[in-house]
This record gives sequence, C-alpha cells and structure tokens, in this order.
Amino acid sequence: MTKEKFTVTAALPYANGPLHLGHVAGVYLPSDIFVRFLRMNNHDVAFICGSDEHGAAITLRAKKEGITPEEIVERYNGIIGKAFNDFGISFDIFHRTSSEIHHETAQEFFKVLDNKRQFTKETSEQYYDEEYNQFLADRYITGTCPSCKDDGAYGDQCEKCGSALSPTDLINPKSTLSGNTPVMRTTSHWYLPMQNHEQWLKEWVNDGVLDGVKQHDASKWRNQVVGQCMSWIDGGLRPRAMTRDLDWGVKVPVKGSDGKVLYVWLDAPIGYISATKQWAIDNNKNWKDYWTGDRKLVHFIGKDNIVFHAIIFPILLKAHGDLILPDNVPAYAFLNLEGDKFSTSRNWAVWLHEYIERYPDKIDELKYVLTSIAPETKDSEFTWKEYQTRINSELADILGNFVNRALVLTQKYYDGKVPALGELTDYDSDVIAQINAIPGKISALSYKYKFREAQAEAMNLARLGNKYLADMEPWKLVKTDPVRVETIMNIALQITANLSIVLQPFLPETAEKLSEFLGYKTSSWGHAGNIDLISVGHLTNKPSILFQKIEDSLVETEIEKLEATKTVETIFDPQKEDASFDEFTKMDIRLGTILEAEKVKKADKLLKLIVDTGLDTRTIVSGIAKHYSPEEVVGKTVTVLMNLPPRKIRGVESQGMILMAEDANGNLSFMSPEKAFEAGCGIH
Ligand code: MF3
Ligand code: ZN
Repeated sequence: MTKEKFTVTAALPYANGPLHLGHVAGVYLPSDIFVRFLRMNNHDVAFICGSDEHGAAITLRAKKEGITPEEIVERYNGIIGKAFNDFGISFDIFHRTSSEIHHETAQEFFKVLDNKRQFTKETSEQYYDEEYNQFLADRYITGTCPSCKDDGAYGDQCEKCGSALSPTDLINPKSTLSGNTPVMRTTSHWYLPMQNHEQWLKEWVNDGVLDGVKQHDASKWRNQVVGQCMSWIDGGLRPRAMTRDLDWGVKVPVKGSDGKVLYVWLDAPIGYISATKQWAIDNNKNWKDYWTGDRKLVHFIGKDNIVFHAIIFPILLKAHGDLILPDNVPAYAFLNLEGDKFSTSRNWAVWLHEYIERYPDKIDELKYVLTSIAPETKDSEFTWKEYQTRINSELADILGNFVNRALVLTQKYYDGKVPALGELTDYDSDVIAQINAIPGKISALSYKYKFREAQAEAMNLARLGNKYLADMEPWKLVKTDPVRVETIMNIALQITANLSIVLQPFLPETAEKLSEFLGYKTSSWGHAGNIDLISVGHLTNKPSILFQKIEDSLVETEIEKLEATKTVETIFDPQKEDASFDEFTKMDIRLGTILEAEKVKKADKLLKLIVDTGLDTRTIVSGIAKHYSPEEVVGKTVTVLMNLPPRKIRGVESQGMILMAEDANGNLSFMSPEKAFEAGCGIH
C-alpha cells in the first residue's frame, strides 16, 4: 500500500452541552477508528477537532442558563475535551474557535474572499424581534419546515429532514428569544452567490471531477451525501448571507461592519484550518502542507451537517483558492436511545462523560457496541439490553474466551512458551488461509468507511480461533497426541497475535492487553495476516480476564435512570442571573379582573382582554387562546404586569401583560389570588 497523506476532521461540537453516545457513534468513534487504521498503515495523518464556540447554539444556551456565552463555552469545552481524552479519541489537536488564532484566520479568510470579489453586498428586509431589538437569523427563529412540515425547523435548517433553509422559508415564523411573531427591518450583509457555483459543484459531487481533473472517488461517497447535495443543488442555489447582526462571534474585518459578525457556518469550518495552524506551530510543522497538494481531506460529520461540508465549505475553499477540497464527507445518520430520539432538553441521553465516570473500565466495551450499531447508512438504536448481549455473547464469550483458552493452555502445557508448528492438516491450512485473508478484508472496508463491517471482520478472526479450539479440543487431545497439540496451540497463539494488531483501531485498550499477555507488540498493520508473528520458544504471560460479563442489574439501573428523567424531568429553566432590588421594584405588578374577552382575528394563540386594573380599564393581548376560551376567562382576577411599554400585537395595542405560570408540558395557568382580593391590589 502506497503511503498517502490525510487530513481528517471530526465535526467541531458546539460547546453548548456535553456529548452523548449519538455524537460518539456517528462522528468521533468512526473518525478515530479511521485515523488509527491509517496511522498503522504509515499514512501521514493529521486528525483535527475542536469546539465550535460561536453561533446561536451558544448564546441561546447562555440565555437559558442565565449566564454569559463565555461561561458556557468555558464549561463545555472543558467537559467535552476531557471526555474525548478519557475515551481515548486520538485527535492531534482539540482546539477552539474562541481562540485568537482562529479569529485571525477566519478574518483573513473572509478578507481574501472579499478582495477576490467573491461576495456580494446586499440590503434586504429581515425578520426582527422588537422586544429583544435583534435581527433573527438561524436558530433565533423557528417555524414550520416548508419541505417536511416539521414545526421545529430553524431559520438555517430543518434538523428533521436536513433541508437548508432561510428564515423567510419558514411557515409561521417565531422568535426563539421572545416567542413573538417577528417584524421586517432593513439590514445589509455580505452574501456568497452560491448560484454561480452550481456547475462545477454538480460535476465535483457526482463524478469527483473539478476543472477537468479527477479529484476523488465518487463511488466511495455515501448515497445519502450525494443525494442530499444533489437535491439541494437541483432545488436551485441561492445567495447565502455570510454575516450576521450579532455581537457574539468573529467580527467582520472590514470597515462599516459594526455590530456584525461572521456567520457561524463560515467561521466554524475554518476552525479546522486554524486548529491545524495551532497544531503546526506546536509541532514545528507547516500548516499549509495539510491543506494543499496531494492530500486527502476527509470530514466526518452527522447528516445534519452535509450541506455545510459538501457544498458551502467547498465553495468557500475553492473561492479562496490554493486549498484542497474534501476527498470524502462520510456523514452518519442518527442514533436513537431506547426507542426515542436523543434529546438534550428532555435529558433523554446517555452522556459520554457520565458513562466514563460510572464505567471507567468499560471503555472498549462501549466502543465495540457503538461501532456494531453505528448509524452508517440509516438511523439506528442503542439499548442497554443490546449493550449487554453484545458484550456478553460476543466480546466475553467469543473474543475473551478464545484468548483466555489460548493463553491459559499455553501456561499449563508449556509454561507459557510458544510451542512448535508441526505438520498441518487440511483444517489447519483452511484456518491459516482465513487468517491471511481477514486483514485485507478489514482494510478494504475501512478505506470505504464501513467500520461496522470492518469490526465484524476483526471479530471473525476471534470467532475463527474460538471455533478452532472448540473443534480441535486440545484439552482432550493432549493426553493422546501431544505433538499435534503443539501445532494447534501455535496456531491459536498466532491468531491471538493477529488479534492484537487488527483490533487496535477498534478496541485499542484490549489490543494493548493482548500485547501484554503475549509479550508481543506491533503497530504496523502490514504484519497482520501472518502466522509467524511470535516465534517458537517465545515466553508469553499469564492472562487476566478481558471482559467482565454485564449483569442484569446494570441494565436495570441504567433503564431506571433514564425512565426517571422522563417522569421527574426538570425542564424548568434554571435560576436566572441576579436582578437588583431596584430592577424588581421598578416592575408594577397588580391584580386585575378580566371584564371582556374575544379572540384576535387570524391569530389562533391570542385573546384580546379588557381588564379592570383598579386604576383604569385597559386592553391587554395575551397568548393564552390555546389554553382558555374567552367565555371561561371573563370574571377571573389575575396577575398583571402594568408598566410594560404598550406595543401593537396583530394591530391591537396591548397595555401590559398577564403573568402566567407554565408547566413542563407548556400548559398555562393564571396566577389568581388565593383569597378574594380585588383588582388594583399591588403585588410585591
Ligand atoms: N457545531 C456544529 C454541529 O454540532 C458542527 C460544526 S462543524 C464545522 O452541528 F465544520 F463547522 F466546524
Ligand atoms: Zn424539514
């Protein structure tokens, strides 16, 4: 195999929450397997990751927790980085987009494109939240997806069907800041005229050809990646804004751009480059070597990231010039958990850092299970029951059992010394032929990004060994034909040595243990497939048990833990940042009695209320129509926030707000006095 050069990236996780098993199974574990495999084959590899610390994902989380964006990214960069480290993901660097070198790199990149006139500047009307005084792009706005009709779509994308969207595509848009229906306001931005890139993109995605030159093997691209790109391109590419009116992010580096930052999907992928730069500085290398020439750039991502990595970033890279485009974009579907989607907000998740804390000695076990069920082509599911079954009946009963038998019998019969290989039977020759063939199969699958099957092939080697010993029964034969047993045990030990090689990408700790048991280690894939890895007379060590069986109690505990989050679930917001006493007393809150109520036309959530506040009779528009009918609210005494500046909602001026309690399911309740107090009473 000729040596090749690879720059492998794993999607930069947003530093807005911890990692769960879905992230691991669909990005970080497969990329780590690939990189370990490449390194064993002596390819020149850089493995790049870091945290994505800009964008609405961060600021909205900060708002929800009542702390600053800086505090959010600091916290989660720490938790995520530690979890990767403890789990043994072998990044060359885990960087962050809040770093200075990243800001500089992203700004420089922007300037290059701007100077090359790759952007257009356009002024347009955009959605704006009047309550928060903010333009609403990306995750600041939600609504119904025009393609799949899911109502949780964001202004940049529908996570349900993967469509890339603009805020104006959303049906029934709402601000995620205030929940209000936004208004239109004028603003200017730098746009990437994607429509100008349609032609070459099509050819490049479908055939791997760019400017007449073969760039990549399109047959290795996953169908779902090509399919999503083509449906997007065929739908017609449009100019896409590359800047935002926000204060959290990389500042736009040109004059007249105050209050504007780079679009997070422009700055984040450049994070791969800035991370490479930092790594190059730390290791005395030249970063450009990793982004130019005959090097293969491979982006491991989740399916919701496809268009950003296979269309937008390639356009940016090509427009910039001098940089390579991806050779492949292996995208993964989603992993579900016990019959339901992973959900951070509902806490329906197995968090990686918590798993590591609870089961620090079961890292490879988890890797094995996650690779076995990895959502390579379609969504798949993690259950604790399957976790148990795969560990017990595959890792323990096959791999563990085989290795243990091979080494224990060697101790028993030969004091640990490798016995001689004698005359071979047909059965032996057949087994040896399979040993020869398996590493090549694993390789071929790995180069095609099929790690599920690749790992299954590696396990087939253990299966082969296990069956060989079970069929040969050396423990019986030893009494009648000890010479034959030497051959059998030699072959069993060579299989074990082969396992210590081929398992390395998938189960690095286990492979390491095998090496210790055998007193033999190589990290060179080229050695695998041979049956002369350990020589006759070589001394092996006493083994220990490789895998403990998973008890039913573990499965029960884990399922109970999940179920508990379902019922006692606290989706209540955490406590907000302190408000000063002054701020509190500024608010005029009183009891008011609803005198009249009617539905607001064309607004199914709103009621127009006429309220007696003790001081006056005023109109208040309240978003309670889904919870209360006009008839049932008349006569109720409720809590009124009096001194909100009046604002027009659907053409009706609202002079205050009715305060409501909201439960975990979004049900609303008035806060009515528990004694018969009347309108006008102050609330302090
Ligand atoms: N943070 C994004 C996500 O979690 C991924 C960013 S990948 C990058 O979906 F290329 F932009 F860095
Ligand atoms: Zn959709």
